[in-house]
Amino acid sequence: MSVSGIASDIVKTLKGLLPSDGTIGLHEPEFKGNERSYVNECIDTGWVSSVGKFVDRFESELADYTGARRAVAVVNGTSALHMALMLAGVRPSDEIIIPALTFVATANAVSYCGGVPHLADASEETLGIDPEKLGDYLKTITRVEGENCINRATGRRISAVVPMHTLGHPVDMDLLCDVAGRFNLAVVEDAAESLGSYYRGRHTGTIGLLGALSFNGNKIATTGGGGAILTNDDKLADMAKHLTTTARIKHSWTISHDAVGYNYRMPNINAALGCAQLERITDFVERKRALAARYAAAFEGIKGVRFFVEPSFARSNYWLNTLLLDEESAQFRDAVLEATNAAGIATRPLWTLINKLRMYEGSPSMGLSVASGLEAGAINLPSSAILGEDHVGT
Ligand SMILES: Cc1ncc(COP(=O)(O)O)c(C=O)c1O
Repeated sequence: MSVSGIASDIVKTLKGLLPSDGTIGLHEPEFKGNERSYVNECIDTGWVSSVGKFVDRFESELADYTGARRAVAVVNGTSALHMALMLAGVRPSDEIIIPALTFVATANAVSYCGGVPHLADASEETLGIDPEKLGDYLKTITRVEGENCINRATGRRISAVVPMHTLGHPVDMDLLCDVAGRFNLAVVEDAAESLGSYYRGRHTGTIGLLGALSFNGNKIATTGGGGAILTNDDKLADMAKHLTTTARIKHSWTISHDAVGYNYRMPNINAALGCAQLERITDFVERKRALAARYAAAFEGIKGVRFFVEPSFARSNYWLNTLLLDEESAQFRDAVLEATNAAGIATRPLWTLINKLRMYEGSPSMGLSVASGLEAGAINLPSSAILGEDHVGT
């Protein structure tokens, strides 16, 4: 396969499927429901900030939608992850297992707790952590001391694992939780990308001890900026609410605090946007899944590439659709990115692996052969829900 061959095949296929007018973004938000009316209500009443009805409503509707017992809304997905790791008992100098192939926020949240990211390889089937490989690896590098799993090489405790549901595709959580149970690791799900994705019928982010969602502008549903902590544990949810609202003691006029808290509370105006977006989440997921099905059909039979489809046990939101170049064609990845972007079709590679980022070089790690292959050969395609509508591209 030549560079011009594969790049032009991909551009041609995308052009046949996507609208022909204007530039096509990677993931654009859609505000066609009650967004304007709810946001205007905040402005008209003056309740734009830390008080107002939309935060409680957003939390309760999120819990209903995901099936989590509780949801706590915060300023972004990174703060949700930070808080979830703290509540899972992560202590300074603990090592936390995270995927090498993830957005930097997963690693940063570990660092905010004073912890050390310990990198795990990916699975070809899910793009997320490979639980079987992780189990074999932990068996060889750790010893168990009482309740603690100790890294024999560093002497540090490994206290938690963060499965990240990559681009919306669920990790195999039964296998992952089994490994976590064997090594006494708390499970904190990074579900920033997977609102609307299910693992064997259970919403992602509700299977571990705690989960974190993101409502950044590029996510399937947005609050402008925002996040949420999910948990089925009332005590943890109460602590999450307290610590993310500056640990202020409830009182009509006294301003007093009983812990070092965080100003992580989601403002009412953002929650208002979120309530309107949640009203349309089922429709967003359906159209994104329809788009994924069209990509899958369009790329079938195109040499050198494969469209990534959800694992057999999952129902994915297909947050960002993904094309995988085979080993031989991966050398043409940048040429494909250049050709598609030059044609007005926004595409991008996956994240640089965490161990290649300056601040995380030298992080403890298992072999990362699968994650490296995915980093080298994956390309994200335009994935806005609107592109999944029937009339688009036909
Ligand atoms: C995997 C992952 N984790 C965490 C985050 C952090 O979310 P936020 O940008 O809302 O802080 C994001 C997205 O932005 C993400 O993709």
